[in-house]
Amino acid sequence: MSWTIIGTWRMALEGIEKAAELLSNGESSGNAVEVAIKMVEDFPYYKSVGYGGLPNENGEVELDAAYMDGNTLSIGAVAGIKDFKNPISIARRLSEEKFNSFLVGQGAEEYAHKNGFERMNMLTDRAIIHYKNRLKETVNKGLSPYDGHDTVGMVALDLDNSMASGTSTSGLFMKKRGRVGDSPLSGSGFYVDSNIGGATATGLGEDIMKGCISYEIVRLMKEGYSPQEAADKAVLELNNLLISRRKKAGDISVVCINNKGEFGVATNIEGFSFVVATEKLPPTVYTCSVEDDKTIYEIATEEWMNDYIKTRTAPLKLK
Ligand code: GLY
Repeated sequence: MSWTIIGTWRMALEGIEKAAELLSNGESSGNAVEVAIKMVEDFPYYKSVGYGGLPNENGEVELDAAYMDGNTLSIGAVAGIKDFKNPISIARRLSEEKFNSFLVGQGAEEYAHKNGFERMNMLTDRAIIHYKNRLKETVNKGLSPYDGHDTVGMVALDLDNSMASGTSTSGLFMKKRGRVGDSPLSGSGFYVDSNIGGATATGLGEDIMKGCISYEIVRLMKEGYSPQEAADKAVLELNNLLISRRKKAGDISVVCINNKGEFGVATNIEGFSFVVATEKLPPTVYTCSVEDDKTIYEIATEEWMNDYIKTRTAPLKLK
């Protein structure tokens, strides 16, 4: 019996530290994933998740989140939800519903309100500055304004061999009102089956959903691929497919674990980072690069870690 938790991007670190404590004390993978993702949602300097997430082109923060239970395969998701503090918790509650378990916009907000979830204005002053600067830099000059799709996605295995997965994101910066990416879509942004393993993705939702990549990774693990082989194969194949059919592929990064707690990671970009913790490995941040179509990773240097926090929290001015 062992436990493991993995999450996309350095922003998962503090949540995974807390989740590691919970998992080592016998807490469920579901609780670990929810607690960890809530911590990412609550941190105001992460500009692609929860409070502080960047808005759509109308200046509204519309959030997407999903939760999946690897034992029952129950899924709950919200998309385009505004003014609620922790979309991951709403998604998890929805996973307990037999019907109406994926709600969007006003329907999701009504459900959250009726079920006592905390309301909150998720647009920070800092996000407003980013928004105004982006308008000046791009929209007013006729350039593409889109940027930022760093979803937090996590998969965990607990001491009872149960698995869970969750995602949370504000989606594409400057997206159209109502735009939904891969993160709340089962099989694209996440998938988990406690009998096999789980995967979650981050990157350009419009491209990730063309390959249902999280399901594909779990399917490959079921066929006998190791998590690393499955992740590399799925990302390379989707990347090449998109290039052959459409001339280019958006950013695609994935993390996964199997039901033995072994992990894998793959990306088609430079600069992807992830966090993993197991019974034997304290929460550790890795940075990735790609060599010969394979993703390699190393422990993030102290300089990289310091720089990460410095750039996230650096003072921001209107341009
Ligand atoms: N991967 C997050 C999004 O595209 O919305």
